[in-house]
Amino acid sequence: MKSTLALFQGPKIRTTPFPPHPVIGQAEKDALLEVLDSGNLSTFIASPGEYFLGGKKIKQFERDFAEFHGVEHAVAFNSATAALHAAIVACGLQPGEEVIVPPYTFTSTATCALMHNAIPVFADIQDDIFCLDPTAVARSISPLTRAIIPVHLFGHPADMDGILRIARKHNLKVIEDCAQAPAALDKGRLVGTMGDCGIFSFTESKAITTGEGGMLITQDASIADLARLVRNHGEVILEGQASRTYRSTMLGWNYRMTEIEAVLGIVQFRKLEDLNQVRIELSNYLTSKLSGMDGLTAPTVCPGNKHVYYVYALKYDEAKIGIPRALFIHALEAEGIPFDAGYVRPLYLSPLYHDKKPFAFQHYKGSARYDKGLCPVAERMNEREVILTQMARPPATLADMEDIVRAFHKIFERKRELLEGSKVLAQQLAAS
Ligand SMILES: Cc1ncc(COP(=O)(O)O)c(C=O)c1O
Repeated sequence: MKSTLALFQGPKIRTTPFPPHPVIGQAEKDALLEVLDSGNLSTFIASPGEYFLGGKKIKQFERDFAEFHGVEHAVAFNSATAALHAAIVACGLQPGEEVIVPPYTFTSTATCALMHNAIPVFADIQDDIFCLDPTAVARSISPLTRAIIPVHLFGHPADMDGILRIARKHNLKVIEDCAQAPAALDKGRLVGTMGDCGIFSFTESKAITTGEGGMLITQDASIADLARLVRNHGEVILEGQASRTYRSTMLGWNYRMTEIEAVLGIVQFRKLEDLNQVRIELSNYLTSKLSGMDGLTAPTVCPGNKHVYYVYALKYDEAKIGIPRALFIHALEAEGIPFDAGYVRPLYLSPLYHDKKPFAFQHYKGSARYDKGLCPVAERMNEREVILTQMARPPATLADMEDIVRAFHKIFERKRELLEGSKVLAQQLAAS
């Protein structure tokens, strides 16, 4: 009998790709042209005085971002990674000191410490929201600990009350990594406003984009000033200064955002809440249709929190469902539905932390470990329990989500056919 599953040459649920992201509209195009016509493309050093802290568009983007978050300072960067590095410096970390980070995140949440010869110490995550677990943080404190970087992973806030309590007790700085969660709320508080500073990413895949770009926000004037120095070669850059001095007062880099990126950011940022709302509606639709299926657990949203769904991540109970996770993902992909098994291998398992130990470790007198088994929850989530997609985002529609739901039902209903077919396939592969 001919199979009905696309994995075995049956008809696919979806033959067209999901609509491309990001959506760049006429407003972005008009704004870009205005900058191109002005001739001011970067402007940090183009003319003395007014532009030492960035051009008009950068300053406006920073002002808009700060106002929305109700903070005094916003400092634009050319990536969130640059902003994270600046945050580590600006928070006063010294070489050889430790920063507690989750292992289930993008690499630069941790490498920003190494960039300053400080050391990432990995603490485990919660198994419901996938963010740093305060109890694991408490266990990871050492005399060398100076900071914690909670990541609001997939768009859901980390447990900030738990993390801030530990930070206060041990006098630690808190740098919120909000790259995946702009405008998410933790009990009414915007992410990025609860710690000493918050950083955001505008790389192409994110909720709003400038192509590449980042932002640091803070209430602390000294953090903002130091971040600006790191951004611009450590040059003293005073508002109203008559000419460039070329005197570096500290080690700095070229982490400057351009006017081209900033103007995109201004327009995109105005759309952030609406874009997030689309993500929420698409994700809520998936949850309403998938959470009743035995063995699937929809994303947790903690009471009083706003999840902005950078990623739609489900928990997959292989024993209950009776289909190996990898096989299920293959079957979904064959149906034209992009899904991943897990997110990233816990970062401490990367070669970076093993055979090619970076220069930073030469300053280190502590005992951070990077061996398998260090963060069992993160390992289990990635190896067995998490499945995820990024397709629940604008400009996708509920009809696109319905395709995802239909594919899940189709595969669940044809479990026997899938398991039998995969055995035959495995035998054929072994024989070939
Ligand atoms: C959690 C997290 N932190 C940091 C980054 C780094 O952002 P960027 O690519 O802007 O440097 C990303 C994005 O890739 C991220 O997802």
